[in-house]
Amino acid sequence: MIRPILRYGEGPLHRPAADVTSFDDELQRLVDDMVQTMYAAPGVGLAATQIGVPLRLFVVDLSVGRNANDLVVIANPEFVERDGMQLEEEGCLSIPGFNATVIRPARAVVRGLDRSGAEQTIEGTGLLARAFQHEMDHLDGKVFVDRLRGIKKDLILRRIHRLKRSGKW
Ligand code: NI
Repeated sequence: MIRPILRYGEGPLHRPAADVTSFDDELQRLVDDMVQTMYAAPGVGLAATQIGVPLRLFVVDLSVGRNANDLVVIANPEFVERDGMQLEEEGCLSIPGFNATVIRPARAVVRGLDRSGAEQTIEGTGLLARAFQHEMDHLDGKVFVDRLRGIKKDLILRRIHRLKRSGKW
């Protein structure tokens, strides 16, 4: 089932999530819904907080469904290594129509649990490292705009505010 994606300004998107503790049928349905919602958007990543579920769980697929091996489902993730730096344009399904250059690590190793609760460790470089960091931020209630400063941040927030006022957000 495709779930509605929360947008910037909606409470649950901005609150930190809690660990997944049960890998039951309900969690399997949630994972399926998240993958389906990500592909439908379409996007390369989605965190549970973006559909209003306060759990530390995200899905990433750089191929957007074209390559089954690219799908990453990870619960209770933590970084075990991060190094380097990359500066690239970034967007977010919860902030449609906006993007900005964000500083991210060039390489990130994430450890967490898969959808069955088994431990997994995944190394990401380039775009995958960026996606891991972006989705991890969501689990802490943060979005990429929170990482910006100055004029660029003000500009995006002002535009979102204007869209909200005119009922287009
Ligand atoms: Ni996002």
